[in-house]
Amino acid sequence: MPRTEVLILAAGLGTRMKSDLIKVLHEAAGCPIIDYVLDLAHQVSETDPIVVVGHQRDKVQGRCGNRAVYAVQDQQLGTGHAVLQAESLLRERELEGTSILVLSGDVPLTRPETLHALLEAHEREGALATVLTMKLDDPAMYGRIVRNPDGGISKIVEAKDADAGTLAIDEVNAGIYVFDGEFLFDALHRTSSDNAQGEYYLPDVVAMAAEQPGGAAAVVVDDPIEALGVNSREDLWRVERELRRRKIAELMVAGVTFRDPESVIIDHPVRIGPDTIIYNGVCLEGATTIGRQCTIGPGSHLESCVLGDRVTLKAGTVASEATIEADATIGPYAHLRPGTVVAESVKIGNFVETKKAIFGKGAKASHLSYIGDAEVGEGVNIGAGTITCNYDGKSKHKTIIEDGAFIGSDSQLVAPVRIGQNSYVGAGSTITKDVPPDSLALSRAGQRNIEGWAKRKREEDDQ
Ligand code: UD1
Ligand code: CA
Repeated sequence: MPRTEVLILAAGLGTRMKSDLIKVLHEAAGCPIIDYVLDLAHQVSETDPIVVVGHQRDKVQGRCGNRAVYAVQDQQLGTGHAVLQAESLLRERELEGTSILVLSGDVPLTRPETLHALLEAHEREGALATVLTMKLDDPAMYGRIVRNPDGGISKIVEAKDADAGTLAIDEVNAGIYVFDGEFLFDALHRTSSDNAQGEYYLPDVVAMAAEQPGGAAAVVVDDPIEALGVNSREDLWRVERELRRRKIAELMVAGVTFRDPESVIIDHPVRIGPDTIIYNGVCLEGATTIGRQCTIGPGSHLESCVLGDRVTLKAGTVASEATIEADATIGPYAHLRPGTVVAESVKIGNFVETKKAIFGKGAKASHLSYIGDAEVGEGVNIGAGTITCNYDGKSKHKTIIEDGAFIGSDSQLVAPVRIGQNSYVGAGSTITKDVPPDSLALSRAGQRNIEGWAKRKREEDDQ
């Protein structure tokens, strides 16, 4: 196979998205759509792709970073004009004997096997241009593939330039091509913008190839979803749905059980170990990683979390940027905010909120608590309704609860404060001073019983 260089067209704004954000940075399954195209490029070529940028080029370059090199198209004069902007970069890299694979930044669902098949067909046919096509029930605004009576490719006609007869053709241009390098630029310099959109069309190069020895070839993709171009919000949703379907199928093959796969949302970068069970309505976002044999209960929502093996999340657990180690149990209805680290076998129960809180092995906060800016030692028991008062209206302060301490229910720990190892805090205490190890701290008012009071009241009321 000849050397392959990949070009990704991403300079257009995408007006049909009705957005301030350039089209290729809109997200599907948690990643901007250009990410998927960059991944594809790296799967078929050794060298970094060239991305043609224009609109919001700083943002596009910021996202793609060193995964690509860049050519700039200042004015969007069409897809042919966009490719021309990469000419000098490609000539520096050597054009002779090179195949140029052109991808669209807005076509994210193509499989690498399909691109390999396109490159192989180009080579086998000895073609100057090979185009990926698909058959659609509703060819809409795609460019129509016009074939000769012998079945060979003749030209591509944009929908806006097509007459009724041509519009009736159901085979369309997927916007993905392989070109012979020398031929491509020679031909592009000869294209004109004399068409309905006043643009330099890349597809015109296919017609020019068809007239020369070598000619033009085509590969028809089996599943048109692979060539779906994102031009509208509805297309973006189709892409999201397909990416999610692929992701869940892949996870099932890897040993993950889904109770109701159609009700879950799983971002592309998420990883899940075998024998984990995912319940209905779960939403897993960002680079969340889940270990083996975990149970993720109904309606749980995780964003950029790391879970060890055998973790149980009961219904309605919400966590972001949290680490939950093996054998921990969380929820139902717990809220783990960023900076929460839960060691092995910890139990965080219902209606507990945590933030920047580190829990040692086996610690428990089983009911109705707020634990923020805190270090909780191993085996600590935090009673129902305990609150770390971490904020004085100006700054945040830290609470340290040493190993083995027992915090009675409904206590307030006014930070900065330290509860010593193996100490007890009596229920209902407001703790404002450090508690030494092995002590009991009590701060509630003493209790007074007035005997007979209720009986006397009853008798008075009856009169
Ligand atoms: C294009 C094809 C059409 C094909 C369809 C498949 C042309 C003229 N038409 O149409 O035959 O069926 O893709 O999806 O090529 N871009 C630039 N600079 C420009 C213009 C576009 O970088 O000056 C980029 C866009 O950002 C986009 C890609 O090229 O990523 C395709 O452009 P778009 O305007 O979406 O072309 P379509 O109308 O979809
Ligand atoms: Ca398009």
